[in-house]
Amino acid sequence: MTLRTIDSLGPLAGKRVVVRCDLNVPLRDGVITDDGRVRASVPTLTTLVAQGARVIVVSHLGRPDGAPDAKYSLAPVAAKLGELLDRSVGFAADTVGSDAAAKVAALGDGEVLVLENLRFNAGETSKNEAERTAFAGELAEFADAVVSDGFGVVHRKQASVYELEQLRPSAAGLLIAAELDVLDRLTENPERPYAVVLGGSKVSDKLGVIAHLLPRVDALLIGGGMLFTFLAATGHKVGSSLLESDQIETVQGYLTEAAERGVDIVLPTDVVVAASFSADADHVVAAADSIEATPFGASGLGLDIGPETATAFADRIRGSKTVFWNGPMGVFELAPFAAGTRVVAEALTEVDGLSVVGGGDSAAAVRQLGFEDDQFGHISTGGGASLEFLEGKKLPGLEVLGWQ
Ligand code: 3PG
Repeated sequence: MTLRTIDSLGPLAGKRVVVRCDLNVPLRDGVITDDGRVRASVPTLTTLVAQGARVIVVSHLGRPDGAPDAKYSLAPVAAKLGELLDRSVGFAADTVGSDAAAKVAALGDGEVLVLENLRFNAGETSKNEAERTAFAGELAEFADAVVSDGFGVVHRKQASVYELEQLRPSAAGLLIAAELDVLDRLTENPERPYAVVLGGSKVSDKLGVIAHLLPRVDALLIGGGMLFTFLAATGHKVGSSLLESDQIETVQGYLTEAAERGVDIVLPTDVVVAASFSADADHVVAAADSIEATPFGASGLGLDIGPETATAFADRIRGSKTVFWNGPMGVFELAPFAAGTRVVAEALTEVDGLSVVGGGDSAAAVRQLGFEDDQFGHISTGGGASLEFLEGKKLPGLEVLGWQ
């Protein structure tokens, strides 16, 4: 590992430093509902401000179609950043247009400017390398140096993540360094027992990580929508629950491999089955092998792990020295189906060792359920990025910073 750090850029006073953050936060009616990623970007920005750099923050938000779309504006995020940095933060209404150019030119030492959403420009996410390089070139016009700190996006080969870093002296920010420090501890000699808890709706999103982790962990605990494909793979009927029939055979292969390796794949023994997908739906707890025996018959939907399973998962988690968790155990957004996720989160806070919450939905879940960040060893800001890292994939946004 030879990640280039900010020090390698030399003195930055008076220099224009473009900082690629991941400020892709959830918004409801223009209000940020989880500001975790904005908070996580603060240490690097504070460091650069303290050095007297002219700080130009760039990020994406959501997945606009390569053109401006007001609902994905970074304006509310710039305001939040101003609050957190406790200083005035400028905002340019475009990314590489005349407003951005004028505001970059007027930027003083130690001042901070946020440019509008990178993805309002088709070049940012283009599949065509020449188009990405052309857009990166426009961004580079604003930069004497580049700091890459958007950990959540390092798995994307995009103009601001990959090409821009090659056009100017570039280095990783403090967030990327901190994330890698923790993820490295999960891959290089993790303290045992090592348990990985996987949830979320789709098995197909997690196949790579399951395959890569099986030889490395002591236990794999399976919850969330993906549990039903595992139950189906063991011969159980799952009613109208989420099921990826085309993955059943692959899952059976994992179950066999786990048995051969002596790895426990811990599957739910009970689930919460509902009449329909809504917060006020009738629901009952059913044994995992009797999902269709509830009053809802074959139309019942499993929406959470059951209480017996939650207790068993919690015991297993608390008894581990290293735990990585990605993906909610149930539909935590609906109160009657949040208990499994809450119990698992609670258990992670009690781990005597390293507990890591993968980003995305699991990070949103712990915050929505009222946990504090410092109750966990680490909450990653990158859902997809941390999973791909644990899959052992080479990530373009890290390779370009010297990471091997
Ligand atoms: C994320 O939310 O995982 C990151 O911000 C990356 O966003 P993307 O999946 O739209 O590239």
